[in-house]
Amino acid sequence: MEKLIIKGGRPLFGEIEISGAKNAAVAIIPAAIMASEGPCNIDNIPNIEDVHCLERILQGLGCKIKVDNNSLSIDSSNIMSLDACTEDVRRMRASYYLIGALLGRFKEARVELPGGCPIGVRPIDQHIKGFEALGAKVKIEHGAVIVKADKLVGASIFFDVVSVGATINVMLAATLAEGTTTLENPAREPHVVDVANFLNSMGANIKGAGTDVIRITGVEKLKGCNYSVIPDQIEAGTYMIAAAACGGEVVITNVIPKHLESISAKLIEMGAEIIEEDDSVKVKSSGKLKSVNIKTSPYPGFPTDVQQPMSTILSVADGRSIINESIWESRFKHVDELKKMGANIKVEGRTAIIDGVNRMTGAIVKATDLRAGAAMVIAGLIAEGTTEIEGIDHIDRGYPNIEIKFKALGADIRRESI
Ligand code: EPU
Repeated sequence: MEKLIIKGGRPLFGEIEISGAKNAAVAIIPAAIMASEGPCNIDNIPNIEDVHCLERILQGLGCKIKVDNNSLSIDSSNIMSLDACTEDVRRMRASYYLIGALLGRFKEARVELPGGCPIGVRPIDQHIKGFEALGAKVKIEHGAVIVKADKLVGASIFFDVVSVGATINVMLAATLAEGTTTLENPAREPHVVDVANFLNSMGANIKGAGTDVIRITGVEKLKGCNYSVIPDQIEAGTYMIAAAACGGEVVITNVIPKHLESISAKLIEMGAEIIEEDDSVKVKSSGKLKSVNIKTSPYPGFPTDVQQPMSTILSVADGRSIINESIWESRFKHVDELKKMGANIKVEGRTAIIDGVNRMTGAIVKATDLRAGAAMVIAGLIAEGTTEIEGIDHIDRGYPNIEIKFKALGADIRRESI
């Protein structure tokens, strides 16, 4: 086990490069299973534990995997097993994409129910509704989802809630169904669009990803392709918040500024300066910021995955901020850890009321989930004295080389074995 040790109070200066998007990569890698001939060569893959977990899962199914720095080659032409029931599958949320991918290509699969961050109930009823609409029989037995279809036939599906996972999973299966599928009320996140673009590069016919209606015309088979994953909107947002909170001047490269607009708008409202270029953003800040209110919502709204890092910066902003978390029912577990460092936050259900304090002080804290971990790193960077963060395996699931990237900006941060 390892921990991060941070001596806070330093401004951040310099340039940082954002990696490929975790939530796109963890869908694109299972989607590569659907290519019946030729390898998928995928670039800009983030070096994170969730990706390594998926590599092991795909190898277990019989895929040939080659890793070269940030590139991954996946050859799925000789898959031997349609049964994904391992510890790795249970550990991560995105393993549910194996259901849509295997169902699409082989018309059957058995996949253990997924795990992931403890941020509230995480149902998959909308995924199941979509698979059933395409003609699959779905049952849950001994903790695994079992899906089977004689054939998949396109259908019109209206999602009751906007779900990233259900939109992508049903899109995967529908890609190899007979006829046309329409997905209404789909998620419009950049990673949904990225997965659709990847599938189209493999020969799929998907139109409208990123809009209110996605139309998928089924094709007979998919083949390997060359693809590059989009930059990580959430990793970029996390570094933008850190730069604004610590003060200084940081250029964040390999980003799509359009994907960051909701985050940039809030940081500007707080008093930071954000300068957008074609594929970078510069954050300039004195570190002295004003309070703002935030309500998380599906894209293009303020992303729930940036809510926890944002609560750290609001803990030292001038005045009262109110955060309303509308996506996950239990995404304030980090608040108790922030309070150990002097934050003044009251949680009432899905609302956090934050009264900004003048200073936070270092303490021994833990990362309760992935984005909570990012929130604690930012807290450590702004706090007086030393902060030790335990449970950093959560952080390693989604942030590549976090201490190396912050160190390059002048932070005093190191990793130690416990
Ligand atoms: N929901 C349902 N039924 C379903 C699916 C979802 O009611 O069948 C509800 C959920 O309970 C939640 C809302 O719909 O209230 C949104 O859930 P969604 O399906 O969009 O979430 P997800 O696909 O499980 C992905 C990301 C999360 C991110 C959410 C929302 C991955 C692997 N995970 O989860 O990322 O918070 O979308 O944007 O893509 C993270 O990266 O830290 C993370 C948790």
